[in-house]
Amino acid sequence: MMLTERATIDSRNWRAGCMNEPDFATFARQIEHMQLLDGKLLSENIKSELAAEVDLLRERKGKIPHLAAVLVGENPASQVYVNSKIRSCEQIGFKSTLIRRPEDTSEPEVLDIIQSLNEDPDIDGFIVQLPLPKHINEEKVTLAIDHRKDVDGFHPVNFGRMAQGLPAFLPATPYGIVEMMRRYNIETSGKHCVVVGRSNIVGTPISILLSRKGYPGDCTVTLTHSRTKDLPAEVRRADIVVAAIGIPQFVKADWVKEGAVVIDVGINRIPDASKKSGARLVGDVDFDAVAPKCSYITPVPGGVGLMTVTALLMNTLKACKKEIYQ
Ligand code: GUN
Repeated sequence: MMLTERATIDSRNWRAGCMNEPDFATFARQIEHMQLLDGKLLSENIKSELAAEVDLLRERKGKIPHLAAVLVGENPASQVYVNSKIRSCEQIGFKSTLIRRPEDTSEPEVLDIIQSLNEDPDIDGFIVQLPLPKHINEEKVTLAIDHRKDVDGFHPVNFGRMAQGLPAFLPATPYGIVEMMRRYNIETSGKHCVVVGRSNIVGTPISILLSRKGYPGDCTVTLTHSRTKDLPAEVRRADIVVAAIGIPQFVKADWVKEGAVVIDVGINRIPDASKKSGARLVGDVDFDAVAPKCSYITPVPGGVGLMTVTALLMNTLKACKKEIYQ
């Protein structure tokens, strides 16, 4: 399969740049059967499919998908994520609107913005970037969003419909993960999947999606968290590991079964004196030690993060085409 071959070659080129020759030769032997799940390549492929659909929609229906993003405060990571969402919209021909407000914006002001976006017929979907400043109740904000425009899939109506297997906007990160599995033909039926982390936006929904009937799904899922007893033992039973705990390099090599599929959702910044910026990004998995044991693994960066943005675009196109709700 072209995608898979390309992923192997990319991983070797990528590794070669940061290891000396003998180390690289050993590593290359170890990873002979490991494939990188290349979120960059995949999201570029999906984005060109979306761009072609936008052209068709414009020509045939005179419509252009329009995503709005609300960003309150100065959280540096949120600014990076929102900018990447807006840039991706531009790249594929969507309209986008960024609404920025300062840290001291009141909750009623945010709720007013949401109401006007709910009522604006030109906006197909919108997101309110989380986390919000402490004085704003995220639950109240999520509930205020019209579920028909909730392209983040965070509203309880979408979450409940997803859990029941009804058409719904799926939360972007889990949607990106299942789309990645689908496009790489990762086998899921009857597999044991261990999810590390039970957040509302990743751990819990991915555990639901992978245990649903059909493909990708039909997994037996264990959802683990901070109170799980002997977490390494649970992870060792996994054919598929989804790490979404938000702790840098948390999942260790001796926790992972030979041949497992490892999906790393983490995006953590750690100090690195060798970098100009003094820091680098790592996932929730100890990649260098874990990768040689895997059949497939997502890199960080270049894995799930890019698929999250792409999934948001897929939801926005669905909203514009009224595929989920009339
Ligand atoms: N913060 C972290 N991930 C997300 C996301 O997918 N959507 C929003 N709105 N905020 C986030």
